[in-house]
Amino acid sequence: STTPRPLIAGNWKMNGLSVALDEARAVAAALEAKPPAARVAIFPPATLLHRLSQAVEGAHLLTGGQDCHGKSSGAHTGDVSAEMVADAGGSLVICGHSERRTDHGETSAQVAGKAEAAAAAGLEPIVCVGETLETREAGQAVSFVVSQVRDSLPTSLAGKAFSVAYEPLWAIGTGRTASVDNIVEMHAAIRAELVSRFCEQGRTVLILYGGSVKPENAREILAAPEVGGALVGGASLKAKDFLAIIQAL
Ligand code: G3P
Repeated sequence: STTPRPLIAGNWKMNGLSVALDEARAVAAALEAKPPAARVAIFPPATLLHRLSQAVEGAHLLTGGQDCHGKSSGAHTGDVSAEMVADAGGSLVICGHSERRTDHGETSAQVAGKAEAAAAAGLEPIVCVGETLETREAGQAVSFVVSQVRDSLPTSLAGKAFSVAYEPLWAIGTGRTASVDNIVEMHAAIRAELVSRFCEQGRTVLILYGGSVKPENAREILAAPEVGGALVGGASLKAKDFLAIIQAL
């Protein structure tokens, strides 16, 4: 299998009202003028996904959902299915972000169900994993994250497009990035798990890093071994910063 293009993903989280669409339009326009080396995607709040997808249709900019339910329809008030994300124009979906795991008690088994539903709906899931500071300080970061990877990836992803995002919780929104050594060590461990689980396909699954990725540190992080892209929070909300990260590749 061939190495896929890197992926730079912007997770807006619960930020950005309709006015934020202008930032995405500015990103799309800049990428039109200078096509990116990476694939680029924005994950807006669910309420903006359809409008964003329409606004950037045909541009070098993909869109996706921040979450989806594990079932395709039914009595699940407030939830959004993978089909709904696809119907709103999304082509990817984030599954098991640490804020979903923390705020909504999502377990790795549930995350695996979401990733399975996503792939069944033709979406490319980005499955998130990451340890707390406590776990890292206890020396258990690698074993914890590897078991999260094992439990959060359904076997049905074999042959399907998906990626994994390593986001240490202590680096999210804190301005504190993992060191390149931390990232390289963890990505190598995730790669080994992917290869043991998905054989040849496991060698080319992208492993993204997330956690305080900024224009100032993007180049160093993106150049590290086994870093297939970035999942960017805060810095994806401003076109200028997000573009600088995209262009760091
Ligand atoms: O999903 C992206 C993320 O959790 C990182 O957020 O604001 O630290 O870039 P941030």
